Amino acid sequence: MKVTVVGAGAVGASCAEYIAIKDFAEEIVLIDIKEGFAEGKAMDLMQTASLNGFDSTIVGATNDYTKTAGSDVAVITSGIPRKPGMTREELIGINAGIVKDVAEKLIAESPNVIIIVVSNPMDTMAYLAHKATGLPKNRIIGMGGALDSARFKYRLAEALECAQSDISAMVIGGHSDTGMVPLIDKAVRNSVPVTEFLSEEKQAEVVEATKVGGATLTKLLGTSAWYAPGAAVSELVRAIALDSQKMFPCSALLEGEYGLSDISIGVPCIIGKNGIEKIVEIELTDAEKEKLAASAEGVSAVNALL
Ligand code: NAI
Repeated sequence: MKVTVVGAGAVGASCAEYIAIKDFAEEIVLIDIKEGFAEGKAMDLMQTASLNGFDSTIVGATNDYTKTAGSDVAVITSGIPRKPGMTREELIGINAGIVKDVAEKLIAESPNVIIIVVSNPMDTMAYLAHKATGLPKNRIIGMGGALDSARFKYRLAEALECAQSDISAMVIGGHSDTGMVPLIDKAVRNSVPVTEFLSEEKQAEVVEATKVGGATLTKLLGTSAWYAPGAAVSELVRAIALDSQKMFPCSALLEGEYGLSDISIGVPCIIGKNGIEKIVEIELTDAEKEKLAASAEGVSAVNALL
């Protein structure tokens, strides 16, 4: 498999590193507009190959899309991240132009590519990528829910004082502080609902900490996070590479699923060699349905700014 990562900044480099370490891709191409930056990151990462024991090749290029030709998957992380106090939505003006331009250049070199959109505001950027490219909807995947679900599991494991691997939990909805819908009533620890262990107050605390998970890190770091976003992307790419048919919440273009249309928003998706193989419609409670509908209204309001 050949994977392109556009944007060799914090998240792009982390994606490339995790994809390399997991060792399922033959070639990873890093692209950035900053002269020499992607080449430098690629060289630095390649010098970890003998230390980390991977055989993937990583090459960097400054805005040269011919190097990306024949990519199976491309990850778009190019754009600006938020600073403390900013919302993801405030990034739309700059990032929309970048995402549209990059998506078009990628498809010109790799007509069969599956695109994973990471740049924020991610649901709107994934929607824009659909509109700008006209690619079939299975081939544009917005990455947000895989990360938000990992953050939810972290918070649940912390509250329950257990291993994260004992938890199964999912966040759907828009990838924003107000739009995320952590499905606490469906979260389980070793098959037992977490609601049996946590008071209502504690449940509310976990849900809130999950929703502001990105903002909490942005405050601590001065910019947005990169390790968990990179790891989440690498898992989506791996599911495509191995055709694993694994379920992740992803921002997918909806055509009536969950009662929503003409919007990209986080819903459970089966990921395999064709990208989004299937959107899974899980049974939601009335309260969960209301939250998802409100989240969709928020995403649509941001889409209207395009
Ligand atoms: P960063 O500033 O470290 O890296 C962005 C890189 O993109 C820079 O190196 C910049 O030179 C490059 N770039 C800008 N315009 C470009 C273009 N036209 N072509 C190629 N490269 C270009 O930012 P960071 O932290 O890596 O974040 C990247 C994006 O990912 C941001 O929009 C951020 O909000 C988003 N993000 C999304 C997450 C998600 O879950 N969907 C999680 C974390 C970040």
